[in-house]
Amino acid sequence: MNKNAKKIIIRACIFAGLGGLLFGLDQGFINGSLSFIKEEMNLSLMQSQSFASIMHLGCIVGVLFSGWVSRAIGRKKTLVVTALFFGFFSLLGAFTHDVVVLYASRFALGLAVGYASFVVPLYFSEIAPARMRGGFIAMYQLMITIGIFAIFLSNSVIGTYFHSWRLMLGIIALPSIVMFLGALFIPQSPRWLVLKGKEEDARAVLSSIREHESHADDEFDEIKKNINAESKQSGWRMLKESYFLKVLGLGVLLMLLQQFSGINAVIYYSGEIFKKAGASHPAMGTVVIGLINVIFTVIAIRYVDKWGRKPILYSGLGVMTVTLLLIGALFKMQETGVVLGSFSSGLLVAACIVYIAAFAMSLGPIMWIICAEIFPLEGRDFGITVTTATCWIACAIVVQFSLSIIHHFGGSSLFFLFAVCCVLGFSIVRLFTPETKGVSLEHIEVKLKSGEKLLKIGRT
Ligand code: BGC
Repeated sequence: MNKNAKKIIIRACIFAGLGGLLFGLDQGFINGSLSFIKEEMNLSLMQSQSFASIMHLGCIVGVLFSGWVSRAIGRKKTLVVTALFFGFFSLLGAFTHDVVVLYASRFALGLAVGYASFVVPLYFSEIAPARMRGGFIAMYQLMITIGIFAIFLSNSVIGTYFHSWRLMLGIIALPSIVMFLGALFIPQSPRWLVLKGKEEDARAVLSSIREHESHADDEFDEIKKNINAESKQSGWRMLKESYFLKVLGLGVLLMLLQQFSGINAVIYYSGEIFKKAGASHPAMGTVVIGLINVIFTVIAIRYVDKWGRKPILYSGLGVMTVTLLLIGALFKMQETGVVLGSFSSGLLVAACIVYIAAFAMSLGPIMWIICAEIFPLEGRDFGITVTTATCWIACAIVVQFSLSIIHHFGGSSLFFLFAVCCVLGFSIVRLFTPETKGVSLEHIEVKLKSGEKLLKIGRT
């Protein structure tokens, strides 16, 4: 019996989980800092949106290469390199006075976010014991939202007292250093060691992280079996299978829906949106948005396996549609010359808060969960890479164009557009999305391969 096993696992998951926190910090950084950067670096509206969205190009490149990098150098070294990138490029961006270097550093931070978004959940799933696996993957989601909240809070404090976007960015180096130092001492992934033929090392790691020797032995056999199955058919070759194309299409649609529901217009630009609506404390509104995002993610983690995915998606989409219509209507009033009083601008902030709560409970975690559940084992890495890259591409489009749409066509057009996407989302859920609550991944795989309709590969 190994008494240290639990401690080693928890320590490893905390240090790797900092990758999720850093992902959230960089995702939320723009909100509260952009107006300072725009002013000091003399950026136009288009250029400042490009600065915000160039990170996503880095994410896309990062995600596309992360499978290869984490296979070549291992999960642990990828985590170490990711932490180095986060730290080095945050400091480079914070110190530079050259716009090109500033853009390049944000692109490189995107690479780190891309690597983190692939390797952290992968490392969790390979190191955590089966019964704790779901909890650790959910913790990763939570770390992202905590990162977003923490940067909203620190940007608002630094913005109020120090007026320095450089400090807002430079401070991100601190958790990066902790992650870098911690990741040097975490165990290697046993699954990666087997993949590289280092079976003795894999056995040694498994013995140190499992409470009983027999568990370590069983898991070792299972890893070998799975790796054999995966090597039979993988990646691009899966595209020849029509059942795989069906689930890939569903994963892509779900990610497009998640992003075109407008979440990142609010995560990135709520400060600007609140200012435009005449809210008296825009920074405070943004901090509340971040906090609500964390709280409702915790609730979602608790209930997603009880209530099921589809009922939560329907309710989330319903609330999001109503709040988006309300926000759009308030902007429409302002565009027709009505000055929004404190009640109306307060209503707009409240609608954004309810919208975020609904997203955090539904589309936020559930799209990632379903994408992790629907792919057959041989194509899981490939499928998740494609759906994650789709998420970043769609996110880049939203971040790149939201402020311009508000500027040229008014906030009402933007929010009505997002509302239309949510309405379309009902059909995607109704017609194609299976209920995967409580169904084993093997069951989903067997049904899918037997030619069952997408809607019926989960619970019937
Ligand atoms: C989305 C991100 C979003 C975050 C907000 C995630 O599920 O993929 O794009 O910024 O939720 O919490």
